[in-house]
Amino acid sequence: MYVCICNALKCSQFREAAQSGAQDVTSAFKACGARPRCGRCLEDAASLIEQSLPRLDALPQAVAAE
Ligand code: FES
Repeated sequence: MYVCICNALKCSQFREAAQSGAQDVTSAFKACGARPRCGRCLEDAASLIEQSLPRLDALPQAVAAE
């Protein structure tokens, strides 16, 4: 499903950007080679990114403690 109509960016692209290290909307857009235009998608994009970030509590204890 498209999240950003202006840039034809899909949910999967925002999820992949988050999983590759993008921690906010600005860096996710950069990772996708785009930039926000109208801004209507920003809230949804931010939610997708937040949901897709690697979770620290999912890491093994030894790695999380470093
Ligand atoms: S819908 Fe994403 S910038 Fe317009």
